[in-house]
Amino acid sequence: MVRQRVLSGVQPTGNYHLGNYLGAIRNWVAGQSQYDNFLFVADLHAITVPHDPKRLAADTYSLVGLYLACGLDLKDSTIFVQSHVSAHSELTWLLNCITPLNWLEDMIQFREKAIKQGENVNTGLLDYPVLMASDILLYKPDKVPVGEDQKQHLELTRDIANRFNHQFAHPKQPVLKLPEPLIIAEGARVMSLADGTRKMSKSDPSDLSRINLLDPPEQIEYKIKRCKTDPIRGLVFDDPERPECNNLLTLYMLLAGKTKTAVAAECQDMGWGQFKPLLTEVTIAALKPIQDKYQAVMDDQGYLESVLRSGRQKAEAIANDTLNQVKAALGYTVPL
Ligand code: TYM
Repeated sequence: MVRQRVLSGVQPTGNYHLGNYLGAIRNWVAGQSQYDNFLFVADLHAITVPHDPKRLAADTYSLVGLYLACGLDLKDSTIFVQSHVSAHSELTWLLNCITPLNWLEDMIQFREKAIKQGENVNTGLLDYPVLMASDILLYKPDKVPVGEDQKQHLELTRDIANRFNHQFAHPKQPVLKLPEPLIIAEGARVMSLADGTRKMSKSDPSDLSRINLLDPPEQIEYKIKRCKTDPIRGLVFDDPERPECNNLLTLYMLLAGKTKTAVAAECQDMGWGQFKPLLTEVTIAALKPIQDKYQAVMDDQGYLESVLRSGRQKAEAIANDTLNQVKAALGYTVPL
């Protein structure tokens, strides 16, 4: 039986955190044996905001190391780097020419980042969702597992694919396949440790706002000690007045592998002084195997390179095939 295909990626911008893990990578690993998985490092996306060229390669390798350390298995998953497959950039240009400008101007992430960056906004930031649509559409995946914040980009991807098919393909033979988002509610929106109404983010200037996957135990302990809470005794889920409480209980539930009912019962009479050490303990325990494996994988640069070499070959074959179908539909000549 042919397995359904999954595609997803993370930007190599350092500070990989619990949101990236619980909202995305953990779900890729959990479902990987059911699917044929294509998981990449979105390095072309990483330069849509000001970046440091001295860090890009190291952050890219570090992310590949984390993919492997979190449990991606090469038997089920192809790991590759976006910029190694030039079809991503080429399809972006072609799709740019069918994407209305106002669709991009309406994207929430663009607006938020553009406000943060003031005058320093480049065209790439606006065009980012078309690059993301290309990343996805090239591989014709069935499912795209992401956190909640990427939902709007996936809707746009479907809109672009529909528009392309409508304009350039026969109704019975669409060229581009419409992907389905796969958003697992638990963990889909991990919030900042400093403010339970904002999402945990790689770009938050305060490192205290997030737990990074590579934080040592002392730092995890310190961050949880310092994280924002409230003065109320008794910890409950889903109280809109207590966003930090909901977030920290959710983290505890996911990292301890407990059910919501069990956590609700366990914590209903607790104060923060009792809860925080528990959360610290499960967080350190959940990250330890990842951190140990990460060190081992990163020590073998030759292995990482071989993973990326074979990943590129597999990805390129599929991506180029789709790119050629798109070019044919648009009426391009075949290179002689
Ligand atoms: P990025 O690098 O910002 O985040 C990677 C993944 O982590 C999820 N995520 C979160 N989930 C829960 N809570 C949070 N606080 C949190 N923060 C991040 C994101 O939803 C994402 O799944 N544009 C994408 C990368 C990308 C991509 C793609 C993804 C480029 N092309 C094609 C899927 C398919 C991004 O910037 O993710």
